[in-house]
Amino acid sequence: MLKNIIISIDGWSSCGKSTLAKQMARALGYVYIDSGAMYRAITLYFIRHQVNINDLSAVEQALNKVELSFSPNHKSGHSEIYLNGENVEYVIRDLVIAEKVSEVAAIGIVRSFAVAQQQAMGKQKGIVMDGRDIGTVVFPDAELKIFMTADMDIRVQRRYQELYEKNPNITIEEVRKNLAHRDHIDSTREISPLRQAADALVLDNSHLTMQEQLQIALNWVKERCL
Ligand code: DC
Repeated sequence: MLKNIIISIDGWSSCGKSTLAKQMARALGYVYIDSGAMYRAITLYFIRHQVNINDLSAVEQALNKVELSFSPNHKSGHSEIYLNGENVEYVIRDLVIAEKVSEVAAIGIVRSFAVAQQQAMGKQKGIVMDGRDIGTVVFPDAELKIFMTADMDIRVQRRYQELYEKNPNITIEEVRKNLAHRDHIDSTREISPLRQAADALVLDNSHLTMQEQLQIALNWVKERCL
């Protein structure tokens, strides 16, 4: 029997972190938490309520009214995010949110709001969490840290296909611009920028099938747990 550990998966936008995290959670019977969904849901709230993100007291007041929770979708078996009781798992994937989320996630009080909840969720261990600062800031003592990467062209293609299904008017160029923009802000922001933790294992999945990437990651789990 494997002991319960914390697994962090960080990396660039759209390199398949959540796919791997869901695969691992299912294989191990762990909880999967999508930390990016929390920043996306906060962004959705700010857009809906026209919160001026340059006004810190407005941001603070708005955060006081934001309640985030995760609840499992019994069909998919994965947890989905709720904003003040409303399931927003699908709305937050829109490009409108993707275009604003990195600016929102760069605000210090937004990060402390989200990180405190993420750390509380990891108390019981047996969790896979993906994001940008999970192995460096949220769980610096995670037993297994994975840093994911993939070629830019491959990432653009994957995200384009995903978004195209919802919106056939989307262009490859829009998607490429958004990924490059988010990667830039996420890795250059002052607070908790995207970094590879010194003890993270790198997984480049540009040319791996989903089955192959899962196998590599599960072998790492075995090494860390025995
Ligand atoms: O993983 P994602 O693309 O859904 O994340 C959306 C944005 O949220 C991403 O551009 C950066 C931010 N984010 C973050 O700053 N820290 C995290 N732990 C997760 C996401």
